[in-house]
Amino acid sequence: MRTIKIFDTTLRDGEQSPGCTMNTAEKLQLAKQLARLGVDIIEAGFAVASKDDFNAIRTIAGEVEGPVICSLARAEEYDIKRAWGAIKDAPKKRIHTFHSTSAIHLLYQHKGMSQDEALKRSVKAVKFAKSFTGDVEFSPMDATRTDTGYLCEVLEAVIEAGATTVNIPDTVGYIIPVQFGDMIKEICDKVSNINKAIISVHCHNDLGLSTSNSLAAVLNGAGQIECTVNGIGERAGNCSLEEVVMALRTRNDIFKADTNIATEEIMKSSRLLTSITGMSVQPNKAIVGANAFAHESGIHQDGLLKEKTTYEIIKPEDVGVSSTKFVLGKHSGRHGFRARLKELGYELSDEDFKIAFKVFVKLADKKKDIYDEDLMAIVDEGVKTVYEYYQLLDVKQSSDMHNEKKPSAFVKLKIEKTDKEANAEGDGPVDAVYNAINILTGIEIKLLKYEVEAITEGPKAIGRVIVIIDFNSKTVRGSGSHTNIVIASAKAYVNALNRLKANGTRKVSLLNKE
Ligand code: KIV
Ligand code: ZN
Repeated sequence: MRTIKIFDTTLRDGEQSPGCTMNTAEKLQLAKQLARLGVDIIEAGFAVASKDDFNAIRTIAGEVEGPVICSLARAEEYDIKRAWGAIKDAPKKRIHTFHSTSAIHLLYQHKGMSQDEALKRSVKAVKFAKSFTGDVEFSPMDATRTDTGYLCEVLEAVIEAGATTVNIPDTVGYIIPVQFGDMIKEICDKVSNINKAIISVHCHNDLGLSTSNSLAAVLNGAGQIECTVNGIGERAGNCSLEEVVMALRTRNDIFKADTNIATEEIMKSSRLLTSITGMSVQPNKAIVGANAFAHESGIHQDGLLKEKTTYEIIKPEDVGVSSTKFVLGKHSGRHGFRARLKELGYELSDEDFKIAFKVFVKLADKKKDIYDEDLMAIVDEGVKTVYEYYQLLDVKQSSDMHNEKKPSAFVKLKIEKTDKEANAEGDGPVDAVYNAINILTGIEIKLLKYEVEAITEGPKAIGRVIVIIDFNSKTVRGSGSHTNIVIASAKAYVNALNRLKANGTRKVSLLNKE
């Protein structure tokens, strides 16, 4: 049985999806969970993109044990130096450098650069990266729209220069499985030194084919799959980690291959990512969707009661879905609380733990049963992963069903060290609250997304509000939870404003400098 390496790019390509930006503390939390999940390589970011990206990779390199820690770098000396600077403290490290190779990219993005020049730059970049570390990956960007003869030439040259992994990106999600399988086979047949490198694949999901394409590649010789938790990523996303891993595991009769993934950690990883990014998973999503193991039809339920395998091809517990809900309550002590948080992927500092435990005790007074989702909301609320430049001190609102008086709100914020108050009206209570906050901050914000969901069941459920705001083309997300959804809305908005204040934006695109 072959072992396929899992290269997780949730923190790099995944983080590039709108609203999924994470700060260093959040990336570290997720990276630790990825290590527990057993991924072979963590692409922790794109070091040159911003100071924040660099620091996050550096922190992960210093603190996360197990997987190889990798940074992306364009085929430029400065980028590669920054990548090395960020990963050098990791016990196992990789530089991933790339250059476009397709005619369309060379013509438009590289101002008519010749194929020869692109090849030269690729080789030079690999040699330079190799002067820092033995583990170098090269990607010919937009490989699936590149002439295959030229692609093979580039691959042979970069392997000769020292690349130990060659990645074939389907950058725009264009290829279809039968074609991709043939392409990987052709690479195996034509690149004379291919046995010196691992073939990796990196598929985007524009046509919904990223998982199928990655699997077709495995059948034809690929030894590494690049993917993300929940399939997050640019546009329609990247190949979803849980889907490829479970396809290989469930149908190893066909693939004759498996991975090092501890599949029982899949659900935790998925939920942790959702809780950090606020990007929920569609209910019918394979493996990690809320309905992935729910059987509604009477015929199916009857079959399941008689024999599970009649309608179940994966045991829910194999991906960490347990049929019994884990419940904590008023009498669960600190120990039980800490243990369950650890199970969920949260390792809190003593100070953060104290804050979270206080919130837990308060909630347990109101609510008999505390579920995992409540615990995640408590951590979201209690543990501040972003500096609170704005602090919400009070919210009051008034509205009535017949709109006899325009909905109005009063908000009190601490801005740095000064308390400020404002009143405002709006179309509804949340709009009024947001207008009052805008008066206080003096910033013109565009609200791109407002979403509210009940985190748990029942009338005492905590409501979580997720917002995405835009200011001068900077998009940031915020989340807030409370049993009162107007307060949750205010918290989410203030959280987004704090992120906006703290967050540098990505300063460069993936386009190589000329
Ligand atoms: O999609 C892509 O081509 C990429 C490369 C940088 C590997 O993300
Ligand atoms: Zn990509």
